[in-house]
Amino acid sequence: MRIDVLTLFPEMVRAPLETSMMRKARERGAVRLFIHNLRDWAEGKHHVTDDRPFGGGPGMVLKPEPIFRAVDDLLGPGGARRRGPGVEFILLAPQGRTLTQAVAADLARRHWLVLLCGHYEGVDERVRQALVTDEISIGDYVLTGGELAALVLIDAVVRLLPGVLAEGAAEQDSFSSGLLEGPQYTRPRVYRGMEVPPILLSGDHGAIARWRRQQALLRTLERRPDLLERVPLTPDDRRFLEE
Ligand code: ADE
Repeated sequence: MRIDVLTLFPEMVRAPLETSMMRKARERGAVRLFIHNLRDWAEGKHHVTDDRPFGGGPGMVLKPEPIFRAVDDLLGPGGARRRGPGVEFILLAPQGRTLTQAVAADLARRHWLVLLCGHYEGVDERVRQALVTDEISIGDYVLTGGELAALVLIDAVVRLLPGVLAEGAAEQDSFSSGLLEGPQYTRPRVYRGMEVPPILLSGDHGAIARWRRQQALLRTLERRPDLLERVPLTPDDRRFLEE
């Protein structure tokens, strides 16, 4: 997959994308990541990228010209819309659809994502009208800009790409089964008087899998009962939950 980030603050996204799993994913060739400064496409001596909103009001609005020029250069005339379903031009903004595991999994099937980080009071509406193919929010709160949201989206998507995580790790995630993940333990067996549940030391893989499923059900019931309504439950699950 290729991902391009368009931002006024490249330094806000650079280091996290060169760290930990994102660095590994790049080194393993699972993803090619490019960070661009929108200012490079702004004209004039001062490379102005924003202006006051027509009609008045506080704050500044991102001008359309640098964004249209950036898209022309990266994606060609017509942008992502001309390139078909494997390519998305995504605006990160609180008005977007909410990022979920299902949205991340869907985006992980594309081959090219171009992410536009909004800033200030917003982006000239003609960018949405002509260029944006998807608009994503990472939750119902307002950030100062789309950079942190772009990082969240990239992390959630890239870890799903083939070769990034150990085999089977993504399938064990919270949410991929529709349930929250249950407790995990590592050594030592006893720490400050707290013991690891003996079943995890039993070597009985069937019993361990059943226990883990039950713990995931319990945790989901306690913390996110709303999720249980959407998960396909087995007869064993139902029996356990009724006990
Ligand atoms: N920009 C500002 N707030 C945001 C949010 N919640 N999600 C995505 N982009 C944003």
